[in-house]
Amino acid sequence: MTISSAILREADHDRTVYLVSLLVLTAGMLRAWAHEEHRRLRFALALTALHLWLLPVVAVMRARGMENVADARLALMIITALAFIGIGGMLLFAALLPRIGLHTPRILRDVITAVAAIVAIFATASRAGFNLSSLIATSAVMTAVIGFSLADTLGNIMGGLALQMDSSIKVGDWIKSGDVNGRVSEIRWRYTAVETRNWETIIIPNSMLMKGQVTVVGRRQGKPEQWRRWVYFNVDFRHQPSDVIQAVEDALRAAPIERVATDPPPNCILMDLYESYGKYAVRYWLTDIPVDDPTDSVVRTRIYFALKRVGIPLSIPAHAIFMTEEDHEREEEKKREDFQRRLDVLRNVQIFEKLDEAELREIAPGLRYAPFTRSEVMTRQGAEAHWLYMMIDGEAAVRVSKDGVEKEVAKLHAHDFFGEMSLLTGAPRSATVVALGDVECYRLDRSVFKTFITARPELAQKFAEVLARRKVGLEAARGGLDAETQNRRVAAEEVHLLSKIRDFFGLSDDDHRTAAS
Ligand code: CMP
Repeated sequence: MTISSAILREADHDRTVYLVSLLVLTAGMLRAWAHEEHRRLRFALALTALHLWLLPVVAVMRARGMENVADARLALMIITALAFIGIGGMLLFAALLPRIGLHTPRILRDVITAVAAIVAIFATASRAGFNLSSLIATSAVMTAVIGFSLADTLGNIMGGLALQMDSSIKVGDWIKSGDVNGRVSEIRWRYTAVETRNWETIIIPNSMLMKGQVTVVGRRQGKPEQWRRWVYFNVDFRHQPSDVIQAVEDALRAAPIERVATDPPPNCILMDLYESYGKYAVRYWLTDIPVDDPTDSVVRTRIYFALKRVGIPLSIPAHAIFMTEEDHEREEEKKREDFQRRLDVLRNVQIFEKLDEAELREIAPGLRYAPFTRSEVMTRQGAEAHWLYMMIDGEAAVRVSKDGVEKEVAKLHAHDFFGEMSLLTGAPRSATVVALGDVECYRLDRSVFKTFITARPELAQKFAEVLARRKVGLEAARGGLDAETQNRRVAAEEVHLLSKIRDFFGLSDDDHRTAAS
């Protein structure tokens, strides 16, 4: 018999054509449907290569009638069986089952493939006349060696299977175990891999996870994944805790904060009272667990701005000594600068353009400094809030909701103002205004304005004029009114708004007549 016919006979005997065809078919399917699994075919490819290498060796040995051909043939048969199992396993678990929506956990695939491989080795060996089981059973030393070496491995496999089956830990869970803190990236037959925030992958043997205590962060039966965080701050104890809590909770709940759950809402508590300050904590529920510090920082910034708006400073250590000498002159100078700043703001606001310098000076002391941080809602559509904001710095967006759809209609910057309608007529807010970054404003409250307008009722007419022009101007920008229609609308609005302003501030008809004259 020629060598080539011996090889062909051997190949026929060992189903080489089926093996190679199965490999090609599986590789094609994986490339098309599960590209990420394609790499895992390398082991089966190596076994097939080994098969193709052993095939001529066995054929030549058999043709020459060499005596240890039986051993070589057994090796070839075992390699062939393992290659079939490896490729078949990939075809079934990585290509076909996922196509019909069945995703087998990795560990189960590994264990099924390993068991099939062991059974195949034993079956092939016994068909060839080798009895491996009796060899193992009769050799006490070998049994002990295998037992010892497999003890840990078996513990890990059982641990891994148990973790998968009872779903106590799943891929994607954020866990804490000892010093390890991170997201489970895979559960294999021997270990569970955890990826940390520091871009490390920590390998934890499954048996350790089974024996030790593991915290699954953010998990609660029947609830969404979210994790409670604490953000601390201190406030001088001369400020009433109820005021601090109210200001902070209002600011945190007024507008959604990215990655902060609305249910349960963030809350603020007084933790303790110390010598000169109260220690407070904000508790909020984080919805994206890896992004903890940056979200704490956003919440802290909101707290800072909320307190600043209501004039409550964060505490300063009681033992701090301030060495700046605040003499009378310096104090006066600071006041003058502040007053000047307020006047400049008022001069640049269109709504006060008809007031003279003396009138502006009357209003200036009543302004209140009001800073906001990114995403805070400065004014909410539909709210009853009777004050006006004048922007000194930053950028804000005006958004109008109609039929449940919110649309941005304008952007506001330094020297812009908003909230004039509610301040002057008592109407609910017509739009929502949101800070796009840090925004600084002065706020003019109804009470301050009322004192002013009650003393100068004839100015109501001037405000009605400006308000009417602004209102029609905003409508024109949206609806494209021509000049003539605009003028007509301004005149009609003026009358309407004047009566509203008079009603809202309780001005009498005599005042109106004075104004009209
Ligand atoms: P007010 O209705 O009191 O509260 C919301 C404020 O948004 C409103 O007053 C105006 O000051 C302002 N506003 C409403 N629509 C626009 C717009 N299209 N452009 C600029 N500002 C607007």
